[in-house]
Amino acid sequence: MRKIIIAGNWKMNKDASETSKFCSELGTYLKKHDNERVLPLIAPVFPFLSQAQGILRSLPVAVAAQDVSSHAEGAFTGEVSAAQLCSLEVRHCIIGHSERRQYHGETDALIREKLLRLLENGIIPIVCIGETLQQREQGRTEQVIISQLEGCFDQITIAAGDQIVIAYEPVWAIGTGKTATSGQAQEVHALIRNWLQTSYGSQAAADIHILYGGSVKPDNIRELLEQKDIDGGLIGGASLKIDSFCTMIGLACELSSAGGN
Ligand code: PGA
Repeated sequence: MRKIIIAGNWKMNKDASETSKFCSELGTYLKKHDNERVLPLIAPVFPFLSQAQGILRSLPVAVAAQDVSSHAEGAFTGEVSAAQLCSLEVRHCIIGHSERRQYHGETDALIREKLLRLLENGIIPIVCIGETLQQREQGRTEQVIISQLEGCFDQITIAAGDQIVIAYEPVWAIGTGKTATSGQAQEVHALIRNWLQTSYGSQAAADIHILYGGSVKPDNIRELLEQKDIDGGLIGGASLKIDSFCTMIGLACELSSAGGN
């Protein structure tokens, strides 16, 4: 059975002391609000991963990386490898975020290499896909999503649904305050699940978490999580404040005990 994943993508925010403060407060909250059907996750910048892990150790929360190198090791200045993340016991890593695609020219082929490196190291990739406003307005959403899935997962074997997570993030909704309606999001999530079913079979497709991202906040998360194929949120801006992040975890806990999702 799928959990609800409440994932905070911190991007290039928070310094060392802000990271510690947030993690200590999150730890205090989670000691009182443990729910095995909800997985909170935070993705700080590389230098503070182990600091966050240290503070949150033994608590029901995952600490994820925001990116990984497509190379295994060697002379790649500034890069961090999947094996290095694995040696830190990092178990999740975001790849293919639209900001990486847009500002760093990442392609589906490169994201596929990153995905392979993560799978080789037993790390769960959170693979981001999503259409731009122009593509949506041209009626090309479905085509773009399928082509991103085909490119990122080209000849990649997925044996079990807990090996990967997908995040649908319409580019026009990221950091803009414009969220896809729950209906628009559900429609694309159903398309993704259908593609997963054709590619990896019913069981894997039923087990894979598909997160929605793009201006998710306490005000709109409930309606999104109520959709059948939305298994959580990948949240930027609203994950940076401890109060709003914990409010969203709390709402997910409520929904999971009400039998929602
Ligand atoms: P946002 O970012 O919640 O600030 O829109 C989401 C993301 O980029 O993952």
